[in-house]
Amino acid sequence: MPTAIIERTDIPLMPIGEAYDMGRAPDGKPLFDPRIFDSREFARNPYPYYRILRDHYPVYHDKLHNCFYLTRYDDITTAYMDDEGFNTIPKGASNPVLGNTQLELSGVEHRRRRNLYGQHLVGNSLNARIPAIERLASEMIIRFSGSGADEMATENTAGRRTVELGKAFANEFPIRVVCQVLGFPEEAQDKFFYWYYSMMTGLGGSETARQGLEARQDLEDYVAGLVVERRANPTFLCDNDGNSMGEDIISKLSRTQIDGDWLSVEEVTSNIALIVGGGGETTRGAILNMWYLLLSHPEQFAAVRADPSLFQQAIHETLRHSSSIGGQPRHTSYDITMRGVTIPGGSLVNCVDFSANHDDRVFKEPERFDIFRDDLYTGKLIRNGYDAEGKHSHMAFGVGPHLCPGAWISLQESILGSEVLLKHLKNTRMNLDRMPKDINGVTLAPIGGGAIRELWIDFDA
Ligand code: HEM
Repeated sequence: MPTAIIERTDIPLMPIGEAYDMGRAPDGKPLFDPRIFDSREFARNPYPYYRILRDHYPVYHDKLHNCFYLTRYDDITTAYMDDEGFNTIPKGASNPVLGNTQLELSGVEHRRRRNLYGQHLVGNSLNARIPAIERLASEMIIRFSGSGADEMATENTAGRRTVELGKAFANEFPIRVVCQVLGFPEEAQDKFFYWYYSMMTGLGGSETARQGLEARQDLEDYVAGLVVERRANPTFLCDNDGNSMGEDIISKLSRTQIDGDWLSVEEVTSNIALIVGGGGETTRGAILNMWYLLLSHPEQFAAVRADPSLFQQAIHETLRHSSSIGGQPRHTSYDITMRGVTIPGGSLVNCVDFSANHDDRVFKEPERFDIFRDDLYTGKLIRNGYDAEGKHSHMAFGVGPHLCPGAWISLQESILGSEVLLKHLKNTRMNLDRMPKDINGVTLAPIGGGAIRELWIDFDA
């Protein structure tokens, strides 16, 4: 999405769900001012503005930021499925920090990279890792919930414990899971967290970019030694009984040749950065957004508590209602006309997944969080967005050839982690006093676009 160019400071903060009136055309059609994209109002309350775009300007030419927006579910699916017409090159500001990755490739080159390690993130290999994921979740949760635990900035009062769930659990849990499948040496994991956070903040292309680049270089220096070591002595992932399930991802990448050449240290590092960058913040957001939404819908939380298998529906509905990723950029390879608008070849096209997920042509009352909704597909992942009966999946993992390869492992992490939380934390409720408030100073600040920043909870000690 574009970065701020000119902020209109006179755009008021509106009640959630209501759009600021940007004027009307003579025929009554609402006008759309692209400066809204740079406003604080849009960051906290994007959905009513996407509704205007979907209903009135489904292929919107934003002349201020020199790009196009696709906002309807069907149009975004068309673009993602057509990786020839809507190519993935280049991705913009993230490149220097992430490096060249499969995100920017298409066709055969893309498939070759994608198939290198995909097997560790799905299927039997992942199933065999489930006990290890559960064990890790338990260890982390017992640290802040068990007797005498106080290292996680918890507050203890008679019978009650307060904790920020991100800091205590969700920020690190997904990264630790991914470090395991990567085969990242345990002794370097603390350093790895520093590299990870620096690279993630550096992705913004802001003043933190330098720190991101430095962290990437440090990581690359470390990986250079690791590649030599693993090429000679690969390490393996094991199931719960100690049986080998094949080389871990770093060993696999280190020992891969394409057309007779080893993958370079730079390529191995980029893949590590992509896997952790793609799976850390996103899964953190999925876990925290789900708990926020469930705790603010007590009747649905009660249903999940009574039957934890409902976490499966809850996580899919969370990813539809409040995904942690807003959308993906594409570039047109040639002129493409959609809904009467010609997008010239070489244009930047923002495919807004947030908006697809709230398209009422697909999902009834899309602003409502409802884990029991009957119009959301929640089964095995599908590549084209809908199943044989025409039921649509959410768009949080994308669609088409770049469909997130980490989707399955992140769903498992979110569900297993949440089941363990439920088991250990009795009578969990949100600590409303400590939660950030909205503009009226009373109701909770909305999730807005992305992941919630903090989630304070209380539970019985
Ligand atoms: C809730 C969690 C997650 C969300 C919402 C998410 C979202 C996405 C989306 C939307 C894409 C498609 C990008 C595009 O079309 O250009 C993607 C790609 C990718 N994701 Fe995820 N992701 C999540 C978790 C993970 C995890 C846990 C991993 C790794 C363990 C991962 C690794 C990747 C990789 C490697 C790609 C690039 C795929 C390609 O270009 O072929 N993601 N993700």
